[in-house]
Amino acid sequence: MIYQADNYASETTASIMKKIEELNHLNDIDTILDKILYEARQLSHADAGSIFIMEEDKLRFGYVHNDTLFKAHEASGAVYVDYTIPINDQSIVGYVALTGEPLSIDDAYRIPSDRPFMFNPEYDCKFGYTTTSMLTIPLMTFHGKRVGVMQLINAKNQDNRIVPFSKESQALVPLFANNAAVAVDRGVMNREMILRMVRMAELRDPTETGTHVQRVGSYAAELYQHWAIKHDTDIHDMKRKKDLIRLAAMLHDVGKVGIPDTILKKPGKLSDEEYDTMKWHTVYGGRLFNNQTSQLDAMSFDIALNHHEKWNGRGYPGKIEDIMSVEMKTGVPKKTDEIPLSARIVALADVYDALSSKRPYKESWSDDQIFETIRSESGRHFDPELVETFFKIISVIKAIQNKYRD
Ligand code: C2E
Ligand code: SIN
Ligand code: SIN
Ligand code: FE
Ligand code: FE
Repeated sequence: MIYQADNYASETTASIMKKIEELNHLNDIDTILDKILYEARQLSHADAGSIFIMEEDKLRFGYVHNDTLFKAHEASGAVYVDYTIPINDQSIVGYVALTGEPLSIDDAYRIPSDRPFMFNPEYDCKFGYTTTSMLTIPLMTFHGKRVGVMQLINAKNQDNRIVPFSKESQALVPLFANNAAVAVDRGVMNREMILRMVRMAELRDPTETGTHVQRVGSYAAELYQHWAIKHDTDIHDMKRKKDLIRLAAMLHDVGKVGIPDTILKKPGKLSDEEYDTMKWHTVYGGRLFNNQTSQLDAMSFDIALNHHEKWNGRGYPGKIEDIMSVEMKTGVPKKTDEIPLSARIVALADVYDALSSKRPYKESWSDDQIFETIRSESGRHFDPELVETFFKIISVIKAIQNKYRD
């Protein structure tokens, strides 16, 4: 028996090590949070969970799972909400961030009155959920850097009944949490680095927040996920590509680094000649990723070069023989599935975002106007299947727009 118990423990440790190893292959913060929640919930048999990320003096909501309310692999607007919680002893996550100690609560509605914090029933009320047991864990790196807080909710026993988190979960999950914290820290840095790159290349304006590239990235990720589920894509393949497309889509316009300010920042309509110059941003973008040494490079190349191609073959830049050659001949159009899926997705995401945003050269359009345009461009500018996908996940699209508002 002792042998078995030991064996179980080392098997569990080995499986944790394997999960950590897998984390290192992921890049973007959203996918990292998704993966951490999935693994921590598996370890502890939790029905739901959230992760909050530490900012200077507050915690910002990062990600949520809830098996009762929505399936983790379906697009859901619930992951794109935005709110912060102060770091103090009034709330449970605030308290855990403050003390740096894990906290297990058996019943959120029966917290002893001598504890300083209170359970906030707002979420339960809003979604008709009942939070009972909670395991709240600080995410701290091995160097003691506080990165965030993870909260697991409603542990379930074999009969699917909600029970307190076991001693075993209380011991195992924090073990996983240190490594998770390292991954979160890296994910946050990756996202920030991409946004810095975009700001330098494309916006050239230090006050820009980069919300629009985050919107395009998230629209693209969710459009891809819905497309992939429909096409029975292997789930691991899907998660990996969803991560890649989110990052690569954020970089779709970095080729604007090669466009002069007088054109890029022109407050009015471009002349034909200026517009011709502007079109080169696709080629400049392609050149930046031409090495294609990683999957991310390869997808960034596809998207940067092809995101202004149109389904009907009337986009730009068209087929290109040698992207590094200055005297590039364009003209042979690319159409339908000659355009990589990722670029067809970003084409739709980019235009939706451009039309719904105010630009120095245009006002924002109403949703009705935009939806009409997108519908009428189905099979012309856009892949008809993706237009269908867009309208199917419109509630998620709106949640993203709301999270990353200007
Ligand atoms: P962007 O602002 O990110 O716009 C992306 C795409 O959204 C555009 O690609 C176009 O397909 C669509 N779009 C944006 N605004 C409108 C609009 O008012 N009406 C319609 N029908 N579609 C719109 P496109 O045309 O290839 O432009 C690429 C980039 O060139 C734009 O990126 C923007 O940076 C620049 N640009 C295009 N036209 C103008 C202009 O008149 N003035 C200035 N200053 N820049 C422009
Ligand atoms: C143009 O033809 O100038 C581009 C259309 C637009 O983005 O407004
Ligand atoms: C995919 O990348 O999963 C699909 C291939 C394509 O249509 O570009
Ligand atoms: Fe573009
Ligand atoms: Fe764009």
